[in-house]
Amino acid sequence: MASLKLGAPSSQWIAGDRSLDRRSRILTAAPRRRVAVGPIRAGSYTDELVLTAKVIASPGRGILAIDESNATCGKRLASIGLDNTEANRQAYRQLLLTTPGLGEYISGAILFEETLYQSTTDGKKFVDCLRQEKVMPGIKVDKADSCQHSLWSFCLGCKGSCMGSCSVCFHCSVEPEILLDGDHPIERTLEVAEKVWAEVFYYLAENNVVFEGILLKPSMVTPGAEHKEKASPEMIAKYTLKMLNRRVPPAVPGIMFLSGGQSEMEATLNLNAMNQAPNPWHVSFSYARALQNTVLKTWQGRPENVVVAQKALLVRAKANSLAQLGHYSAKGESQEAKTGMFQKGYTY
Ligand code: 13P
Repeated sequence: MASLKLGAPSSQWIAGDRSLDRRSRILTAAPRRRVAVGPIRAGSYTDELVLTAKVIASPGRGILAIDESNATCGKRLASIGLDNTEANRQAYRQLLLTTPGLGEYISGAILFEETLYQSTTDGKKFVDCLRQEKVMPGIKVDKADSCQHSLWSFCLGCKGSCMGSCSVCFHCSVEPEILLDGDHPIERTLEVAEKVWAEVFYYLAENNVVFEGILLKPSMVTPGAEHKEKASPEMIAKYTLKMLNRRVPPAVPGIMFLSGGQSEMEATLNLNAMNQAPNPWHVSFSYARALQNTVLKTWQGRPENVVVAQKALLVRAKANSLAQLGHYSAKGESQEAKTGMFQKGYTY
């Protein structure tokens, strides 16, 4: 977790060489082999990085994020009355990662380290289950062996001179998340997001990062969760696209939003609103909560519910696939899908 100061000069914003070294490791480690830490250039891996980013950013598809730490996975399990044991985490992840037909809507999955080495109860590695569905396995931070992409994340806020929660994804992706926490208007989030992205791209460019080989994983530009007025999907799309158009070069292949505590339906409606006209980049999703909520509630930890819970995952994945294409309608959405998931100070 890193924190950035809005008032600080550029060079102090992103904690200097250390974080850059870390990113360079993630970028170069992504293509399945360990290499020495060096400057942020993909070198001989450029083609693979560019291809990976392109495949993940393919029409009608997005990312399933299940990179929550064991502690956060424990909170999810506790919400349905299960203990945070490895067996329960494995059972939940098996449900998600063996969903038949997942690859139609999901192009990549971000895993937590434990999941990377886990297998199904009949011994098949989770990464192989994903590959079979043509879903690219990825990993948070720098454990990139067996993976084709990796994620680095940190948090930022909008209050005072500090920013909330930001995650930066360097599988071939970059993702800053600005937390929903606060009572600020949407204009303030826009201001903060523009500063964050100006800084991120400053350092990416300074370090010769291959823009064609990265994906962004930003939060949407919304008012703070406690702001007196709610914003419509059209308003959120307008502000978010304004920020992205001002800051993100068209060489970047994809923008894969996180859901940040929005309800499943809100996250899908907002994505749909952003895809009503062509954008310079693929605009899609990399949701965790907004793909998993109904699944979890449907499963309840019972083996007899696995199939119906997997169907619930496909419903969400398909809805977001349609939203990526700009064709989603919220008609018939369940009450669960409309339930907001914002929690103050939420961390992964
Ligand atoms: P949420 O969709 O729950 O915000 O999480 C996305 C994410 O960034 C996990 O890596």
